[in-house]
Amino acid sequence: MSNLAILGGAPLGAKSKKWAKWPVSEEKDAKLLAEITRSNRWSFDGPYEWKFAEAFTKYQKANFGMCNANGTVGIQMALEALGIGAYDEVIVPGMTWQATAAACVDVNAVPVLADVEPDTWNLDLASVEAAITKRTRAVIVVHLYGSVTDITKLAALCKKHKLHLIEDCAHQHGTFWKGQGVGSFGDVSSWSFQESKVLSSGEGGFSMCKTKELFYRLYSLRNCGRPYPADPAVFGLKKPAPKDSAIQSGNYRITEWQAGILLGGLSRLDKQVKDRDANAIYLNQQLAEIDGVLPMRRRKEVTQQSYFNFAFRVDPKELKVTNAQFCMALNAELRLTDDFEPPYDPLSNCGLYKPRTKKRHNLSKDYWKAINPAINKIPVCVEANRKSGITVHHQMLMNSRADMDLVAAAVRKLVDNIAEVRKLKVGELKKYQALSR
Ligand SMILES: Cc1ncc(COP(=O)(O)O)c(C=O)c1O
Repeated sequence: MSNLAILGGAPLGAKSKKWAKWPVSEEKDAKLLAEITRSNRWSFDGPYEWKFAEAFTKYQKANFGMCNANGTVGIQMALEALGIGAYDEVIVPGMTWQATAAACVDVNAVPVLADVEPDTWNLDLASVEAAITKRTRAVIVVHLYGSVTDITKLAALCKKHKLHLIEDCAHQHGTFWKGQGVGSFGDVSSWSFQESKVLSSGEGGFSMCKTKELFYRLYSLRNCGRPYPADPAVFGLKKPAPKDSAIQSGNYRITEWQAGILLGGLSRLDKQVKDRDANAIYLNQQLAEIDGVLPMRRRKEVTQQSYFNFAFRVDPKELKVTNAQFCMALNAELRLTDDFEPPYDPLSNCGLYKPRTKKRHNLSKDYWKAINPAINKIPVCVEANRKSGITVHHQMLMNSRADMDLVAAAVRKLVDNIAEVRKLKVGELKKYQALSR
C-alpha cells in the first residue's frame, strides 16, 4: 500500500490535531462591543472609528487615513480621488483578487493587466513599463500574499512617467519596507478588513493618503460627498474643508462596532505579524532544502513581512507534477483548517472577473474591446496558477515551530513519493478563487 495519505497511507497530521483558527478575539473585544451597543453612537465619524484610524495610520507611518466600507470601494475611491475615470488606462497586476481590476471598470477606466515576477508574483516592472501608453494615468500595485513589490523602483518609474501610484495593501497590514510602512508610498493606498485578512472586522476597509487635499477628497467620497467638517478634528486638521470641495458620492462608512473590533485587532497585530514572519522564515529555510521546491523571494529591503497567505512553488520541470496534484496530496497529509490551493486565477481568464457583463460598462465599441481581459497576455500569472504556485492561508503560520516542521515534513514526504503524486487525478479541487478571498 502507498505511503501517501491521499492513497490510504497514514497522514502526517493526526486526526485529533488542532490547528490554529482565524479570526481570533479576546474578552476585551466583547466588552468594548457591549459598551458600544449600550452607547448612543453607532456610526458616522464616531470616536472609536477615528481612534482606530489615527492609530492604524500611525502604525503604518502614513500621513492620513480613514475607514471605509471595504477594500473594493477603497480602490474605487482612490481612483476617483485622483481624478481617474472614463477611458483612462490603469496598469494592474494580472495576478490579484478581481476587485483590483473590477474597481477600475467601475469608474469607467481601462485596467491593463501587467505580468508578474515568477518568484514574488508581484508586478514585473519591465511589464509595467511596456504597458505604458499616452492614456496611462496610474499603476495599482498589489503587494501579494507575503511579498512586497520593489516600491522604491516602482515609485521612481511612476514619477518618471508622471503616473499616480495606488497601493492595494489588502494583504499587507504590518509590512515595512526599510522601516517605512507599506501603504505610505503611493498617493493613496487601500486596505481590506474582510474576515480572512490579518486585521479584520468581518467586512471593512481603509484608505491612506499622502496629502491633506487627497484626505479631503477621500473623506467626501466615503461620506455621500460631504466636506470634512473638522468635528472631530483628526490628523491635526482643525479647519473644515472648503465648502465648495463637496463631490457627489455614496455612503461607504463603517460602524462603531467594526471600529471596536479593529482596535482589538490592532492591539494584537504587530506580535501576530512578527510570529508569522518568524515561522515563515523558518519554514522557507526548510523548504529551500527540498529538491524541486522553491520558496518565494524575499527582498532585502523588507524589514517586517506580513502574510495574508504563505506561498511556495513546485518546479514542474524537476518534479513533473502540477501544483493541483501537490495540493491534493498535501491537504490529505496535514488536514489544516484551511487547505493549500493554487494562487489566484490569472485575471485574463478568471471566473469572477467578467467586466463585459454589465450594460453600464458598454461605453463604446472601443471601450468594450479594451476591457476584454483575454487581450492581455500574462504568461507568468498563468504558469503560477496552473502549474507551480501553492498558497495557504496565514492561519497556518500561527501554529507552533514544531508544526512548521510537520508542514516541511509533509512536503518532503510528497517529494520522496513524487511518482505517486504524479499519477493523482485532480478532481474537484475546491476553487479557492470562487469563494471569499
Ligand atoms: C488584493 C485584494 N484587493 C482588494 C480586495 C477587496 O477587499 P474587500 O473584500 O474588502 O472588498 C481583496 C480582498 O480579498 C484583495 O485580496
